[in-house]
Amino acid sequence: MSRSAAISSAELPTYTRWPIELVRGRGSTVWDASGKSYLDLYGGHAVAATGHCHPEIVRALREQAGELLFYSNVVALSARTRAAEAIAARAPAPLSKVFFVNSGTEANENAMRLARRATGRTDILSFHGGFHGRTADAISAAGLAKYRELSKPNVPGHRLVPFGDLAAVEAALDERVAAVLIEPIQSLAGVVTAPASYFQSLRRLCDERGAKLIYDEVQTGFGRTGTFFLAGRHGVVPDLVSLAKGIASGFPMGAVLVSDEIAAPVQPEEYGTTFGGGPLACAAAEATVRVIEEEHLLENVRAGSQRLKTGLSALAGVREIRGEGFLLGIALDRPGKPVREALLARGFLVGGSDRPDVLRLLPPLVLTAEEIDRFLEAMGQVL
Ligand SMILES: Cc1ncc(COP(=O)(O)O)c(C=O)c1O
Repeated sequence: MSRSAAISSAELPTYTRWPIELVRGRGSTVWDASGKSYLDLYGGHAVAATGHCHPEIVRALREQAGELLFYSNVVALSARTRAAEAIAARAPAPLSKVFFVNSGTEANENAMRLARRATGRTDILSFHGGFHGRTADAISAAGLAKYRELSKPNVPGHRLVPFGDLAAVEAALDERVAAVLIEPIQSLAGVVTAPASYFQSLRRLCDERGAKLIYDEVQTGFGRTGTFFLAGRHGVVPDLVSLAKGIASGFPMGAVLVSDEIAAPVQPEEYGTTFGGGPLACAAAEATVRVIEEEHLLENVRAGSQRLKTGLSALAGVREIRGEGFLLGIALDRPGKPVREALLARGFLVGGSDRPDVLRLLPPLVLTAEEIDRFLEAMGQVL
């Protein structure tokens, strides 16, 4: 194992650190300061969509940095126009307009604000187990109680119902609810899924009761589940989609994708952010879309996911594989922490979850069959 990477005296302790310090990355591999390599099945927190330091992303950033490092939304930028058009063109109708922000939590804050504005209502319905970020409104929608507790007082008007329980939504969805906010695959909760019929019913109920449907696709978006978005799957298109994580392959960026109806009343000066839609982030986002298509990464995710599911299901100690594409939860018959630690010692990075027995895989979309087989072999040995 590399030298320890304790939190320095100049940093506020935020996350529990893994005992490694990384200095370099290429594709699905990262290296520590001693030169030891790790296969990154965590994707830098579900962010390294096109892999670490993809040459096209690096080139787009370098080129843009040499032309114009930054200008805000008071001017038009061709990089911003191209990124918005690239994203909107891949979204299912009637999702048609993009509002660039800087992170996942900011995307959710603005999605909720837009839904309240469109409906004139105040309340937000979200789900036990869900996670939407750490700013005031987003954390008040958290379905993992510890996050809400940490941010007291919460924003008023948030209501929580069990994930997957349609009757609970039916009972709670009254004329005060502006939006139903859902992570279509609950990642942090341990990769929890629901059947297609559940999402179809949510769409129908929102329409009947005059509420908007928001998909938090911060993790499921940008190719991770084998399609650009989960929005559109099973014939269900939400009114708003929040995006972040892999959208710019590691350059900080978030976005809210909205329908024509949500966009219609919005006037200049009502929504904004200084840095959102900056030229570097937009250059990286446009290059990310291009790489995903040119390198057939959606197909790679679908094939790789199947290989992982088949291989992992065959291992002793694995109870269940949940999720889609490269957002997978491995439910074990034992605590996950020692398994993660043993994998790390062998040079494999995997994530934990809110459930001690569930590990998460969120690898770059470029992960190859050979890399998957190496991981399966190590996993078999560790278990
Ligand atoms: C589903 C989901 N929504 C929102 C967020 C918040 O994103 P950010 O950390 O960029 O604010 C996360 C972060 O992990 C997430 O997984």
